[in-house]
Amino acid sequence: MGIFTTRASTALREAKGDLRIENVTKRFADFVAVDDLSLVVPRGSFFALLGPSGCGKTTTLRMVAGLEQPTAGKVLIGDTDLTGSRPYERPVNTVFQSYALFPHLTVRENVAFGPKRRGLPDALKLADEALALVEMGHLAQRKPAMMSGGQQQRVAVARALVNRPEVLLLDEPLGALDLKLRRQMQVELKRIQTEVGLTFIHVTHDQEEAMTMADTVAVMNKGQIEQMGAPAELYDLPTTTFVANFLGQANMVEAKQVGLDGDRPVYEAFGHRWWVPRHRSSVPAGEPAAYGIRPEKLRLNHERPALGGSSAAAGPGVLRDVSFTGVSTQYLVDLPGLGTWGVFERGRWIVRRRGVARSRRICCSCRGWPGW
Ligand SMILES: Nc1ncnc2c1ncn2[C@@H]1O[C@H](COP(=O)(O)OP(=O)(O)OP(=O)(O)O)[C@@H](O)[C@H]1O
Ligand SMILES: [Mg+2]
Repeated sequence: MGIFTTRASTALREAKGDLRIENVTKRFADFVAVDDLSLVVPRGSFFALLGPSGCGKTTTLRMVAGLEQPTAGKVLIGDTDLTGSRPYERPVNTVFQSYALFPHLTVRENVAFGPKRRGLPDALKLADEALALVEMGHLAQRKPAMMSGGQQQRVAVARALVNRPEVLLLDEPLGALDLKLRRQMQVELKRIQTEVGLTFIHVTHDQEEAMTMADTVAVMNKGQIEQMGAPAELYDLPTTTFVANFLGQANMVEAKQVGLDGDRPVYEAFGHRWWVPRHRSSVPAGEPAAYGIRPEKLRLNHERPALGGSSAAAGPGVLRDVSFTGVSTQYLVDLPGLGTWGVFERGRWIVRRRGVARSRRICCSCRGWPGW
């Protein structure tokens, strides 16, 4: 039995600065959910944690919120160590996928709840300002049950923002919305974040969502961060096959380095030889490597194209499928030894214009920067 203080530490609530997670591990019995994870989220940035189901995203957020304590490691904001403190002591608020609004209170009362509990005299005024920010002022008198999912989600965001947390955690907040509303809310959330300038940490397993919204994306896998960077950088220069496959689609094949063309490493796979710009080849010579190329970098050809200095080709192969998605036409090509590759070409009439028909023998080619 012990004696505990019930008084919240104001010093902790007022912590300011970058969010720092230092060597944090979380074990549930002998299962490691988060494995020696370290990361710094700069103050005021929009940060996305992206990864497949079960990789430890929610567990990481819960440790930042104080809803879970790390087995080892520290969570800090600026120089203030928050490890071990209670959720209400931290300058952190969370928006969950389930909106968790109080059903018996109006929208305005829901948003004013936090400031009222902290004894702020202008709680209702603060609530109105937060509702204006998410453009929900006109529904302030409604009860949550009388609103759509998207509207409730905005209120949930207002209810978190009204506390002016140093860090706002968003755990799959758009998961329950339909695709169109989801895209709209992504833009809205980004606008709100820019307007309020708070640190947002957004958890999602939707790569498009992470890339649209975040300044920095961390790709998580099995409790660890596999790669972190600006969205374009991760897409363009993934350092592992997991990241390459998780962010968009990639045609990938095992390859080995067989020499140099000038200073460019040359890789070989099933009789094909391709060079890779030096900065795109992160694997030391002699080690197993995966050669990868994005479908939108490829073009289809009837004949094997003549290869100049900056071109590459694969094939011939057999066209297995053609589908039109609106933005592009997507082809699947069976390439002996290399597997089935995707080729995305813009526009609709490529199939007809080039006389490409299913089961036809064709070659894939690429100009510019093949591989990574
Ligand atoms: N309280 C718990 N007890 C035991 N295991 C847990 C507990 N909480 C989480 N886990 C396990 O830890 C792992 C990570 O869970 P977590 O909820 O962080 O995943 P996630 O990345 O958020 O996944 P999702 O995208 O499905 O929400 C999972 O394998 C999960 O089963
Ligand atoms: Mg989760």
